[in-house]
Amino acid sequence: MQNVLVTGGAGFIGSNFIRYLLATSPIVRITNLDAMTYAGSLENLINLPDPSRHILVQGDITDAVLVGHLLRRYEIDTIVHFAAETHVDRSVLNPQQFIQTNVLGTFTLAEAARQYWLVDQSLHGRVLRFHHISSDEVYGSLKPGEPAWDENCPYAPNSPYAASKAASDHIVRAYGHTYGLPFSITNCSNNYGPYQFPEKLIPLMVLNAWGGKVLPVYGDGQQIRDWLHVADHCEAIYLVITKGKVGETYNIGGGSQPTNLEIVYQLCAILDELYPESPHTPHKMLIQFVADRPGHDQRYAVDFSKIQRELGWKPRHNLGDGLRQTVEWYLDHPQWVSAIQNQPDYQAWISKNYQSRPEKTG
Ligand code: NAD
Ligand code: DAU
Repeated sequence: MQNVLVTGGAGFIGSNFIRYLLATSPIVRITNLDAMTYAGSLENLINLPDPSRHILVQGDITDAVLVGHLLRRYEIDTIVHFAAETHVDRSVLNPQQFIQTNVLGTFTLAEAARQYWLVDQSLHGRVLRFHHISSDEVYGSLKPGEPAWDENCPYAPNSPYAASKAASDHIVRAYGHTYGLPFSITNCSNNYGPYQFPEKLIPLMVLNAWGGKVLPVYGDGQQIRDWLHVADHCEAIYLVITKGKVGETYNIGGGSQPTNLEIVYQLCAILDELYPESPHTPHKMLIQFVADRPGHDQRYAVDFSKIQRELGWKPRHNLGDGLRQTVEWYLDHPQWVSAIQNQPDYQAWISKNYQSRPEKTG
């Protein structure tokens, strides 16, 4: 791995991965292709280790001419594909962009890689890899007591977001099967940590609680997610790219599965402890149960024994410590927070999503 194209590297996981890769691998050069949607931010790329080995190109993964040009211009041997529309609630309200970016964008990248690597044979003899970042949501939703998902579980996506990720996985796998594209896929559970856009549960709750705003818990708050610190996800991706088998899928999870309500209580307790003088202590008084997400998946749990067995990976962060560090990170970065909270799009999203969710009574 020498010349890496990271897509979506100005977003949450992509920017954490770029930091990780620059710090871990002293020779790689990174081209970061990001459309800089509402979720991408230059603030996520401040203070990179050795920034001279990173360039940001603002552009869209559905732009076949641009993607082909970047592959040739930077002699890309490795693609790590994060770019996507990622928020389930946005996919419920506006699914079209999810099909455009997640399905057509992934197709465009796979086709460009096929042309450059396999048809033109431009990097003949070099080790090549197309790594696709995907989600555990492709597997659908688990009932209580059902075993965690392994790599052989059938796909059963429930939201437009999950369906678009499932479609993108199938495209990548089909390119491997039909054309011999040297691919790998990782399906990961819910990430948390620094630089996560505050539309997602954990940063939204931390910042709302800190600001004395309502903490909107969907439905009864008894849904379960499998939480993983983003640094553990980055390490797993790096291992799969460098040591994982071509043509394989690896599931990645945190092994920690609280209910949403337990997560929100835990975040409130951390804030109470760190800032007992806050006028909003006890922060749990801000919790409000609101109308549920349509089609809300009940439970996620990932069996990560394959990556553990084959590559020796397991999560390093425990959830309690990881959440505390995460709360501290958001409160220590007011400039990052206000840059997002002052975006007109962010205010518009919060109004659109939460005004249509009246408080539940009874
Ligand atoms: P994010 O929403 O924080 O960032 C997405 C990035 O992609 C942004 O920088 C955005 O500008 C960019 N982007 C969007 N559309 C683009 C386009 N058409 N062309 C180029 N760039 C575009 O997302 P994230 O949470 O960092 O997720 C990254 C990847 O990981 C996604 O593929 C997501 O499905 C997957 N994933 C996320 C999680 C999670 O918990 N966040 C868990 C498992 C898998
Ligand atoms: O499982 C992996 C997936 O995790 C990723 O593929 C997605 O990109 C990522 O967004 C995430 O999806 P979720 O829908 O699970 O994450 P979110 O943070 O949006 O919600 C987590 C849970 O919290 C979910 O059950 C809905 C609930 N929730 C969320 C928000 C934003 C609330 O109760 N209130 C809220 O305001």
